[in-house]
Amino acid sequence: MKGALHQYLKQQKALYGNELYLSNKPAPLSEPKPEKKDLLANGKLDAYNQSICTCLECPLGKTRTNFVFGVGDPNADLFLVGEAPGEQEDLKGEPFVGRAGKMLDKVLYAIDRKRGDGVYIANVIKCRPPNNRDPLPSEVKKCEPYLIEQISQIQPKLIVALGRVAGKTLLKMDVPLKEMRDKTHDYNGTPLRVTFHPAALLRNSNFKKPAWIDFQWIRDYLQNV
Ligand code: URA
Repeated sequence: MKGALHQYLKQQKALYGNELYLSNKPAPLSEPKPEKKDLLANGKLDAYNQSICTCLECPLGKTRTNFVFGVGDPNADLFLVGEAPGEQEDLKGEPFVGRAGKMLDKVLYAIDRKRGDGVYIANVIKCRPPNNRDPLPSEVKKCEPYLIEQISQIQPKLIVALGRVAGKTLLKMDVPLKEMRDKTHDYNGTPLRVTFHPAALLRNSNFKKPAWIDFQWIRDYLQNV
């Protein structure tokens, strides 16, 4: 218990420096057991992954190491969407496993969540673009139906686009992040918010405070919806 408390305070310090934010729900201490409905939903998502993971609809299919389908709770109420796999994600076949992913895990921990428990994580496109360039409209056109199917299987209560590129790609509006933040948009019938990409929080710690405001909103929305 002392170890867990120490670890929590260390994570809070890494995220927010010396300011202490208190949340009203303790973080779970043990892994929840998967229920039958989770296993069924997981089976359906896995089958869908198997049916599309050899995709060669765009040229990224030829250069990828792994197709990065998505990861998390098949009954998640929160669906996070990044832009595209980076180098680490391409190698491991899982979204957000590099430094930005570690930052994302810390933010989730601060709102008493974690990947796999009430959260699902995927990207707009499933294969790594060369040199991590932004996804091309032609790639998005081919790949977005996969995301739409994942969302329709999971039926989250809220989608959160991580960063300007994910936001502008999903919302089809080429505007600065600040014009997309702080508003509830609609993505094919599901509410969608846009916040900072976790890599931006690593680059500029001034973004941590507004990001924390966004994630507190997300936490409160999901508690009350
Ligand atoms: N950045 C993203 O947008 N997605 C990932 O999976 C990793 C980094």
